[in-house]
Amino acid sequence: MAKKRDRQAVSNRRQNQAVSSDQHRIVGDSSSDRRLIIIFVVFFVISPAIAVLVYHKYTSSGDFSGASVYERGLIKTDIRYQEILAEHSNVAENVSRRHYDYPVLAYITPWNSKGYDMAKKFKSKFTHLSPVWYDLKSHGSRLVLEGRHNADQGWISELRLTGDALVLPRVVVEASPTDLLSKKKLKNKAIDLIVTECKEMGYDGIVLESWSRWAAYGILRDPDLRNLALQFVKQLGNALHLEVESRRSKQPLQLVYVIGPPRTENLEEHDFGPEDMQSLNGAVDGFSLMTYDYSGPHNPGPNAPVNWIRSTLRLVLGIKRNSPVQHEAGKIFLGINFYGYDFSLSGGGGAITGRDYLSLLEKYKPVLQWEDISAEHFFLYADNNQNKHAVFYPSLKSVFTRLEEARSLGTGISIWEIGQGLDYFFDLL
Ligand SMILES: *[C@@H]1O[C@H](CO)[C@@H](O)[C@H](O)[C@H]1NC(C)=O
Repeated sequence: MAKKRDRQAVSNRRQNQAVSSDQHRIVGDSSSDRRLIIIFVVFFVISPAIAVLVYHKYTSSGDFSGASVYERGLIKTDIRYQEILAEHSNVAENVSRRHYDYPVLAYITPWNSKGYDMAKKFKSKFTHLSPVWYDLKSHGSRLVLEGRHNADQGWISELRLTGDALVLPRVVVEASPTDLLSKKKLKNKAIDLIVTECKEMGYDGIVLESWSRWAAYGILRDPDLRNLALQFVKQLGNALHLEVESRRSKQPLQLVYVIGPPRTENLEEHDFGPEDMQSLNGAVDGFSLMTYDYSGPHNPGPNAPVNWIRSTLRLVLGIKRNSPVQHEAGKIFLGINFYGYDFSLSGGGGAITGRDYLSLLEKYKPVLQWEDISAEHFFLYADNNQNKHAVFYPSLKSVFTRLEEARSLGTGISIWEIGQGLDYFFDLL
């Protein structure tokens, strides 16, 4: 866009030069008053008007046609920062049209409230919505389910006026695991707290995150404790399935379980593997697989290389290279990040949202590059202290590539999280 503006400025300058040389020629010509007026009108009224029109075409949604990013031809590897700045807020007029028929789970966080609006606006595009609201904690020897203060009933009601998406708040298990898993009374209490909250608040079930915590506590290396951990998840799933959502769907409550990607090429003891999945299969309705954060400040690089996503899925499902992915894949929600990273190459850096990304584009006017193997866009810039940075943030092309990957693997997708993306990403879903 700035380039367009520069070009415009150059041509205006040329026109001004033409005006002044014309004026020199017509000095002393008594019949030139009318010509002067015409020149004045042409160069000082019409030209700026054209410039403004041209400018609008490339910037605002002034004459935006309402077409989707597919029809606008924006899904490509060769992209410029000007185009992203000009197009990111233009979304297809028909916000209810879906492009995929597999399940789409979207996370929403209270600290990025834009996600609540995105969920409402594009509600037909999601099958599952998971607001990140609850923690199961130990208070001394007692268990508490914290987070009801986050719950927004007005928002849920608005969603349910027309949308069909199930609302499954996320619950993180923070409670100290050894007691929780080995004391029957505590285990039953935990399950009762969760089921009761679903019934009282009218949820369709929950998304449970516990594996990463249990791994951190070393629970999963002990075969007995690991078995108790799986039993806990099964018992919770079965308890939820016995309850029916009474207000709307009339369906049994659901349990979606969060699993992290293995960090190595072969499964380690604490990793969630194919046997765990088999064991939970009957009690769990879906697995939210966190296929992102492949790189970090200590090893800057792509956030979710597509070849790594593929191998992770095979590892978790226990499918050998080259053999076809089996039907178990249908329960997987393959993770897609709507956030990115700004890495300082001298060390450090952190996650960025769509808004941060747009500010970086405006400030540094970078050249965007496509990396074929990971299927991600990135750019480099030097900050005010001349520190080099590498920025990896999703693009239409990178998101589209992952959506197609999910389709070919037969999985659904899960998005972390919809308050951090650019508006036109939702056109893709
Ligand atoms: C929007 O898309 C949906 C699904 O494809 C379709 O049924 C509906 O008629 C469309 N609405 C408009 C206004 O075109």
